[in-house]
Amino acid sequence: MTAQRRRGRVPHARDDHYMRMKDAQIVATKALVDVQENIRMAIAAKAMICIYGATGHGKSLAVNASLRDLAPQQTCRIQFRARPTTRDLRHELFYCLGLPGRPPSHPIEFDRMLRAVLEEPRVLVCDEAQ
Ligand SMILES: Nc1ncnc2c1ncn2[C@@H]1O[C@H](COP(=O)(O)OP(=O)(O)O)[C@@H](O)[C@H]1O
Ligand SMILES: [Mg+2]
Repeated sequence: MTAQRRRGRVPHARDDHYMRMKDAQIVATKALVDVQENIRMAIAAKAMICIYGATGHGKSLAVNASLRDLAPQQTCRIQFRARPTTRDLRHELFYCLGLPGRPPSHPIEFDRMLRAVLEEPRVLVCDEAQ
């Protein structure tokens, strides 16, 4: 997989730990197990979920490790600049979904394209959503 295709996918397990700390292992804490179960239920319900908490408490690791098990192929990580507009949202979706060609120039055409693609089950992850 090229770097371009890799971008936006669930990160490798080797990136779970800060600075790829050698020999570090994931510990199945209650928080991690709860996150996995909540994400599993959100996917089944086609719902949205917000994982929140203080910095360094393991949110990103729990989400990435869970999605690596639950939906590795369906997951797209999306990022927005500050105060995204609807136009930004469309374009970020276009790139994070890996759609071919150039983004449509007309909003109606663009929305139709995104709706068609998003009929396939996807998990969109926005880390650092604040
Ligand atoms: N369940 C866990 N098992 C082992 N290490 C963990 C676990 N959760 C977090 N860590 C360690 O804590 C660091 C910070 O976790 P991270 O998920 O980046 O926090 P947050 O996203 O909440 O700021 C990770 O790099 C990892 O090394
Ligand atoms: Mg984080």
